[in-house]
Amino acid sequence: MNNLQYLVILGLICCTYAKISEDELKQYLNNVYEREASDQCRKAALAQFDFETDIRNKKKEELTTNLTLEQAAWEKNVWTKYFKDIVPEEYEDPTIRREVKFLKILGSAALEPKKLEEVRNNNK
Ligand SMILES: *[C@@H]1O[C@H](CO)[C@@H](O)[C@H](O)[C@H]1NC(C)=O
Repeated sequence: MNNLQYLVILGLICCTYAKISEDELKQYLNNVYEREASDQCRKAALAQFDFETDIRNKKKEELTTNLTLEQAAWEKNVWTKYFKDIVPEEYEDPTIRREVKFLKILGSAALEPKKLEEVRNNNK
């Protein structure tokens, strides 16, 4: 077998591996995504609330901005890694399909630069 054939086969193996199986996806959504998403959301919301009740506090404003950016970075990372190229129809479980469809759209909406732009402008 020559090197090129070797690379092609290696590529096929890698691509097959890159696609997450239904079980793996279920595990990930239930055990990891759920927890991380609510952590990120809670942290950012708490900071936001803390700042809104103490609006002149620059430190709290900065923390709110930081956590909002952190949350956005997390969303982007997860979306790019798991949901961007996912094909909902490839999954059997209707609940998973529905979730995946939703997360795929949610991710691209959350990535619209507008929200991040607002955050940056507020910080000036
Ligand atoms: C916000 O992030 C910046 C840059 O990473 C950091 O220097 C700063 O200490 C952070 N502020 C707060 C309040 O966490």
